[in-house]
Amino acid sequence: MRFVGSGTTIGLGSGSTMSYFIRELGGQLRSGTLRDVLAVPTSKQTAQLASSEGIPLTTLDDQPQLDIAIDGADEVDADLNLIKGLGKALLREKVVAKHAKSLVIIVDSSKLAPILGTRVPLPLELVPFAAIAQLHWLRGLGCRSELWKDEDNEPLLTDNGNYLARCWFEDGIVDPDLLAGHLEGRPGILEHGLFLNMAKLVVVADEHGVRELEPSR
Ligand code: A5P
Repeated sequence: MRFVGSGTTIGLGSGSTMSYFIRELGGQLRSGTLRDVLAVPTSKQTAQLASSEGIPLTTLDDQPQLDIAIDGADEVDADLNLIKGLGKALLREKVVAKHAKSLVIIVDSSKLAPILGTRVPLPLELVPFAAIAQLHWLRGLGCRSELWKDEDNEPLLTDNGNYLARCWFEDGIVDPDLLAGHLEGRPGILEHGLFLNMAKLVVVADEHGVRELEPSR
């Protein structure tokens, strides 16, 4: 399997694209094409699917240095900066990616965007305390912000027991580094879905085939 060799430790992202990947990985382990792979899942959903596929799981506490993290994304710009988290797992995804020697992203071409945030909102993980107050502060950054709610109109809870907000920027996120800096300095905002300068490779698959994008940085 491309990117994953026998004897490697891998971070397994979350979302529908990763479900395909996890099933493929499980198949290769069962057939013996791949052996001795250990995986750290980024969500309970991924853990469940990976377990059902017979993929041996571990934790970052036991394996703090992973060979690779593989994940999907919601948007990818020309510098291979990403918006991630619309699968609600951005905090664990970022932690796992930071503990991997490289982050490989798999998307279809609909996820490619000239400016991040034009097509999808930016998700953020927040502590529940004063979450509404945070929405007001976020609006001051130029976005329309909402708590992400479930079908019963209750705030969604992440696997970590926190809330999620979504922020829509009318003209997209013009300066992702500046925005990330503001968000990272804000107590109560645990993590945001901007993954800047993190992807080593983006694999784009569509009806024309598969191509690989590498950052110019
Ligand atoms: C999960 O929190 C996300 O970061 C996913 O990687 C992202 O939402 C892509 O998901 P799909 O593969 O389902 O589009």
